[in-house]
Amino acid sequence: MSRVKLHDLEFEPFIPEAEVNAAVDRLAGELRVKYDGKRPLFIGVLNGAFFFAAELMKRLDIECEITFVKVASYLGTSSTGRVTDLIGLNERIEGRHVVVLEDIVDTGNTVKHILDALADHHPASVSIATLLFKPDAYKQDIPIEHVAVRIPNAFVVGSGLDHDGLGRNLPGILRIIQ
Ligand code: IMP
Repeated sequence: MSRVKLHDLEFEPFIPEAEVNAAVDRLAGELRVKYDGKRPLFIGVLNGAFFFAAELMKRLDIECEITFVKVASYLGTSSTGRVTDLIGLNERIEGRHVVVLEDIVDTGNTVKHILDALADHHPASVSIATLLFKPDAYKQDIPIEHVAVRIPNAFVVGSGLDHDGLGRNLPGILRIIQ
């Protein structure tokens, strides 16, 4: 893989596809041990998590379900504050072991809003599994339990991640050239 231009920005190879695959292998093993016999419900956050969700699912040989949501966030009334809707969530969550699948956790604001919205549905447990995690950018205190790859604080694309709609289809992870 060589350099790629997406809109106005240039990206260079950062994490090869084989390394991403190995990290997802390891994560699938971790989740198998934790959730075997619990019939977890995986919730992939669109658009970015489609790639990670598919790669993870084909490695997980336990009884499980998967669904996808889109996150819509808007300002409610002054008493409700910021409201996050999980669009497309039709499954019954109550009493289920839920694993939220993210493409990347950066500041953690998105994950925080999703967990707040899920709590209203009274799951038995909720954890986060993410393809990429930027620990230096993270501002929440919720533990990100299942991480495939930790990366420094740089803008990346590939494996489901985009720059303004482009780059999701690129294999491996590419990093912005400053
Ligand atoms: P948050 O800051 O953890 O709430 O991340 C919000 C969203 O920003 C993620 O779900 C991604 O869609 C996007 N994002 C954060 N960092 C990157 C990146 O390096 N590349 C592409 N998208 C990113």
